[in-house]
Amino acid sequence: MKLLAFSTSLRDGSFNHKLIELAARIARRDGAEVDLADFHEFDMPLYDADMNREEGLPHGALALERRILNADALLIATPEYNYSMSGVFKNAIDWVSRARPMPWRGKAIYLMSASPSAMGGIRGLWQTRVPLEGCGALVFPDMFALPHSDKAFDQDGNLADRENAKRLEVELLGFIRMAEALAPICAKRLTGTAR
Ligand code: FNR
Repeated sequence: MKLLAFSTSLRDGSFNHKLIELAARIARRDGAEVDLADFHEFDMPLYDADMNREEGLPHGALALERRILNADALLIATPEYNYSMSGVFKNAIDWVSRARPMPWRGKAIYLMSASPSAMGGIRGLWQTRVPLEGCGALVFPDMFALPHSDKAFDQDGNLADRENAKRLEVELLGFIRMAEALAPICAKRLTGTAR
């Protein structure tokens, strides 16, 4: 199983970076090959249909497209901003959605969020799944929102709270088992008609 993993925060010291690094370690321990990407590699301008028509996809969107196509499934940690999804990530979803065949189509995705707030970013995750599902991705029903993220990690980058740690591991491994089972179907779906 090849997983592409990234945090959509651009901030040094991001809690979502810590969470995706932890998820990548758990997945690797389980035997997955994990391509852990830095979202700065996917730097791209704000979506502009004129630019898209005249020049195609910008370099950063092409880079993200290639990494998605090369993966069986994705792990994504993304912050909540103003009760909603990350604008940086929505812009990237929009650019990549203009590629053909649609790279998101048929990709199993596990969504996570970390926030110092008591909600952990769950409201943003509910919104993040909408455009991804609109693009044909198979977003896992369980989503991991980590509240109080400023106090949640120990010195080794693990979750200090045992229940949270167990919940992440159980959900993530459940996602990987589902992605493995769906892989043959997902591969066919990729070659299906893209909208
Ligand atoms: C936030 N933050 C935030 N947190 C939350 O749980 N719900 C929210 O609605 C918001 N809104 C919000 C808006 C803006 C503009 C900023 C800058 C921040 C807090 C946010 O979750 C926090 O900064 C996280 O640390 C961001 O994730 P990273 O960068 O640590 O991964």
